[in-house]
Amino acid sequence: MKSYQIRKLFLDFFEKNGHKIVPSSSLLPSDPSVLFTTAGMQQFKSYYLGEKSPYGSDVASCQKCFRTTDIEEVGDEKHLTFFEMLGNFSFGGYFKEKAIKLAYEFIVNELKLDIDYVTIFSSEKVADGDWRKNIPEDKDSYKIWRDVGLPENKIRKEGIDNFWGPTGDDGPCGVTTEIYVNGIEVWNLVFNEYFCNNRRELKKIDSPGLDTGSGLERLVAVVQEKNTIFETDLFETIIGEISGQDERAKRIIADHIRSVVFLISEGILPLNLGRGYILRRLIRRAARYGKLLNLPKNFLIPLAKKTIEIYKEVYPEIKLKESDILTVIQYEEEKFEKTLERGLREIEKIPNLTGETAFLIYETFGFPLELIEEIRKVENREEFFVMKKKHQEISRAGAEKKFGGVGKEATEEVIKLHTATHLLQAALRKILGEHVKQMGSDITSQRLRFDFSHNQKMTQEEIKKVEDLVNKKIEEDLEIKKEELSYEEAIESGALAFFKEKYPEIVNVYSIGDFSKEICGGPHISRTSELKGFRIIKEESSGAGIRRIKAVLG
Ligand code: ALA
Repeated sequence: MKSYQIRKLFLDFFEKNGHKIVPSSSLLPSDPSVLFTTAGMQQFKSYYLGEKSPYGSDVASCQKCFRTTDIEEVGDEKHLTFFEMLGNFSFGGYFKEKAIKLAYEFIVNELKLDIDYVTIFSSEKVADGDWRKNIPEDKDSYKIWRDVGLPENKIRKEGIDNFWGPTGDDGPCGVTTEIYVNGIEVWNLVFNEYFCNNRRELKKIDSPGLDTGSGLERLVAVVQEKNTIFETDLFETIIGEISGQDERAKRIIADHIRSVVFLISEGILPLNLGRGYILRRLIRRAARYGKLLNLPKNFLIPLAKKTIEIYKEVYPEIKLKESDILTVIQYEEEKFEKTLERGLREIEKIPNLTGETAFLIYETFGFPLELIEEIRKVENREEFFVMKKKHQEISRAGAEKKFGGVGKEATEEVIKLHTATHLLQAALRKILGEHVKQMGSDITSQRLRFDFSHNQKMTQEEIKKVEDLVNKKIEEDLEIKKEELSYEEAIESGALAFFKEKYPEIVNVYSIGDFSKEICGGPHISRTSELKGFRIIKEESSGAGIRRIKAVLG
């Protein structure tokens, strides 16, 4: 069975069983507390919490997803950054029994696969003190699996691996049951019984809901009896285009090109921060591995074209954006090529290439050790790792300083303008869109200066709207709160940040009512009413795709 047939079989099966088929939502979620869409349920989040679903209670979809958490694992048999998630969902319609029976029927009768085993939640396996410790064992699922005919030894009990959610700050979550075929997890059924708030406190929701997710690539690998997802028809033409012996490098390139194509199709451009930074990293990482395999210049272009061919029927938007996609990739690849050439020349010049010099090359040009070693033998290569570790510690300490805010000696004016900067960023994102991200900031006791990503000059009307919104928030007398969170928690909670590498492990998160939330060292005022009369005095360009605002208070 081909991948497109499996996707269709899934959706047809659920349609036949009374589900409304809903198209994939964008990779850029409307929920500001997450950077990308990582699961099928995200577009339906509010329907679990009582908002009425316009599609009825039972739906199914095939959702484009992107996860950065797995990026370092890409290259093995089963991890990806971009993937498609098949799922069926119910918002107060049906629950465990029907969900398990439908999943069983699809896997066993429609796909003709044998279930190796399933897992269910057991609190006994949860560590003491964990916020999920008091959730009772999922005896219902156990019984239902027994009823459909699974023997006892095929039902395994697990701990927090069988609990899912919430995505972002807060939201629905619950215990899960997972289905394994040929040793691979192919389907996760989540029983959303709780609402979890941002303090990780659980409350039962009025009517429980169902959220399921089955990674299409994995399912296809299992149905097509392949050992890895990269041997399936979703990848074979892309991989076939990449010559070379190094399987891992080929897989990384194949994975990254798919993500790159889809991210650009959503309007993301390579930048040094946020989503754009992730895109840049993917293109450059793919280009680097291309070098390792000796692939020709612009090798990513034919790979992007293959990707578009594979997906153009299911996601017509990528065909429509083809020329943008190819232009952006080519431009970024060429830019990186220049850096590479300079780096290569440097490497040639170095008389004695030690781990330490290799580290400097890595730092300056972003070449990984494997790439350097392809060109020259590195002596005492352990030094490279010692230096890397040392550097990480230094940059962590540096980051603490750098993001330590405006400094202890800050005057009252500076502190006020600093808080106003947070309000400004949130207002710009509301008025101009979520592509707006801080690119730089400078505060004196007279004015604030704020650089941000945005492609065109702001209109007078937009400037006015931003000013009005900031002033409205000042009048609302919002409270400014500080929390200490791990970087991960901060990002999950929706706090805005520059990119990861520069932050210490524990960060301060400042929120202003529900309006703004940023990782920041502070200090800030305590209520917005301490500010008066926010005015933008200048709006100008500050480089390609970057605008600069100067603003004052009073
Ligand atoms: N939302 C669940 C997951 O992503 C189904 O695994």
